[in-house]
Amino acid sequence: MITDKIKNDIDEIQPGVIADRRHLHEHPELGFQEQETSKFVIQRLEALGVEDIRTGIAVTGVTALIHGTKPGEGKCVLLRADMDALPIIEENAVEYVSQNKGVMHACGHDAHTAMLLGTARVLLDNRDQFSGTVKLLFQPSEEWGTGGALPMIEQGVLEDPHVDAVFGQHVSSGDPTGEIQVSGGPIAAAADSFKITVQGKGGHGASPHQAVDPIIIATNIISTLQTIVSRSVDPMKSTVVSVCNIHSGFADNVIPDTCELGGTVRTFDPALRDSAQEKLTKIAETVAEAMGGTATVDYHRGYPATINDDAMAELVRQAAAVAVGEDLSKPLEAGMGAEDFSYFLENRPGAFWMVGCRNEEKGMTWPHHHPRFDVDEDSMAFGIKTMVNVVLTYLAS
Ligand code: NI
Repeated sequence: MITDKIKNDIDEIQPGVIADRRHLHEHPELGFQEQETSKFVIQRLEALGVEDIRTGIAVTGVTALIHGTKPGEGKCVLLRADMDALPIIEENAVEYVSQNKGVMHACGHDAHTAMLLGTARVLLDNRDQFSGTVKLLFQPSEEWGTGGALPMIEQGVLEDPHVDAVFGQHVSSGDPTGEIQVSGGPIAAAADSFKITVQGKGGHGASPHQAVDPIIIATNIISTLQTIVSRSVDPMKSTVVSVCNIHSGFADNVIPDTCELGGTVRTFDPALRDSAQEKLTKIAETVAEAMGGTATVDYHRGYPATINDDAMAELVRQAAAVAVGEDLSKPLEAGMGAEDFSYFLENRPGAFWMVGCRNEEKGMTWPHHHPRFDVDEDSMAFGIKTMVNVVLTYLAS
């Protein structure tokens, strides 16, 4: 369990953690392009004397090991930080503003990476306090494409040594600095996307009877898609179906040939995920057919739902209560966003928690992915204390 000495150690290294975070913030890189970020992480790990540094996993991913020296049974716990930034032009007027114009750490992954480096430093200095192994994992591209978690897992990061449990954390500008939020069960949704192409038959706007209007077919598909949630999902469960874009036509007197719709489907429950895909496809195809056209559905499955293990979430809750105080350890309300830490949780027991980083006085209240998003750096000490105590608690259990 975390001691007052370790808590003091964490407070003492804060200037270094903040410097690391600011360096990363100034030099943001997009998903799977984190070359400089990765080099920086490797350099830091080498300077600390961390063992078995492996690089270039899923392009820029890095893992490394810290071995406890306390005699005892040796479990292995994985700690994950994501490293990528977003294609956003930063609008903050801070001295550590992004030097890579058009790219910005607007989700706090700079803080996640800095916190994991800080956690590594503290665990190394206190390796006589635990038995077993800590595997540090720095992941590319949480925000983009297929994500970096799945290819890292496919390249074997959960083995050699075999990982027994997985933990990760995310800053949250919706919650005050210092609050640690965790709960068992689903905390983030499966995020799927779809594209529906309606094929009609173009013609003169004055002669609809000689055409098959893809726009009116599309609007009927959109309304009928609303019945997936309202009429077929158990009201006590959650699903979202949102049509987020629609493209068709160019003139005021021409019925176009085609209409394209795009959107997202969010679910927690794998059975609801399957049935939403099935119903969406059937509605699009049959509504179009009934109206004399056709619809082609291109359905893409994104990250699965992020589901915390109940026992591991309880371990984090208790570890956080000891590390930062009972009053700051709170339950986490699930949201319909997505997070590719889900792949780690599909493969191993573990938990993912939120670290509040909102500070009204400092004006750090902007939402994630906003050009003015910023992290209250005081939050990082709370995240490190929690992560260190999760490790100590888990490896002693
Ligand atoms: Ni994020």
